[in-house]
Amino acid sequence: MRLAVLTGGGDAPGLNAAIRAVVRRALDGNHEVIGLRNGWLGLLNGDVVPLTRDSVSGILPRGGTILGTSRTNPFKAADGGPRMLETIARLGIDAIVAIGGDDTLSVALKLHAMGVRVVGIPKTMDNDVPGTDYTIGFDTAVNVVMEACDRLHTTAEAHHRVMIVEVMGRDAGWVAGIGGLAGGADVILVPEVPFTIEDVCQIVRRRHERGRTFSIIVVAEGAKPADFGMPITQDARVDEFGHVRLGGVGALLAREVEARTGHETRVTVLGHLQRGGSPTVFDRVLATRLGVAAVEALEAGKDGVMVAVQGTKIVTVSLQEALAGTNRLDLQLYQLSRLFH
Ligand code: F6P
Repeated sequence: MRLAVLTGGGDAPGLNAAIRAVVRRALDGNHEVIGLRNGWLGLLNGDVVPLTRDSVSGILPRGGTILGTSRTNPFKAADGGPRMLETIARLGIDAIVAIGGDDTLSVALKLHAMGVRVVGIPKTMDNDVPGTDYTIGFDTAVNVVMEACDRLHTTAEAHHRVMIVEVMGRDAGWVAGIGGLAGGADVILVPEVPFTIEDVCQIVRRRHERGRTFSIIVVAEGAKPADFGMPITQDARVDEFGHVRLGGVGALLAREVEARTGHETRVTVLGHLQRGGSPTVFDRVLATRLGVAAVEALEAGKDGVMVAVQGTKIVTVSLQEALAGTNRLDLQLYQLSRLFH
């Protein structure tokens, strides 16, 4: 087969590990691999690069993606579909391995409906893709959140402050929930569970009554204070998949908590630090297993599927299943964290 591989959407540590695994397993099966540059844009424009053993040598520990990425939605252009089919025919591409989250995989599903062989690999630090227990990049992101909480604990304690940590997570609170639990956060706020600013202030006041002079609050960017009824956005612009740019809930909370409790409050926005740098052991191994599984699925005649991890096993699920809504934070895990509020 002549395979094409791409990385789409927001980057996440482990993408290069997945590309390397796809290439090494494909070459081992006597297939050829080309890389599509910058996500679906590469397929639209025929912007490709041959991938050899040499081109993937040494990339396992590197963050980012050697192929580049973009949030291009090729179906935004009226001629997007035909243009992609033309590239596929011209370059003799037999199948595509699409590494991405829900937006990238939704394009994969549409292409599959047009007769193209596609296999998806789930990647997003948000961990919100249905059908898989974990997505590439999530473990590295929660390790960043955990380390930030550890560091903020010492300075919060020294200054007797409330520290607010704003983390990514548009619709799902996995990063805030798991990162906050591991980092010993005193309050965790996620998109799935409505809260009021007054609830948060009450927890801070109670801690002070019990003799604690500092608090750590982890808030997902998509968490919605009921007082506002909507997520806090940076501006009204949307990307090609219709997403607004979130951000600002941490600063809003910091202002309100300080004004209402009288305790000095600071905010740290972790932002893209959560998506940068070298992948953890877990993400490297997950990406390697999924990359190999994607090629093996194609060899076995499967397509229109996503490779996934369920428990300790690598499985395939249909792209439809992978795109059925959002994998939201397990609320039992969230309840567990409340014990430590
Ligand atoms: O990859 C998903 C995500 O991490 C979201 O949690 C976040 O809202 C978004 O990406 C921000 O990405 P960017 O700033 O790259 O558009």
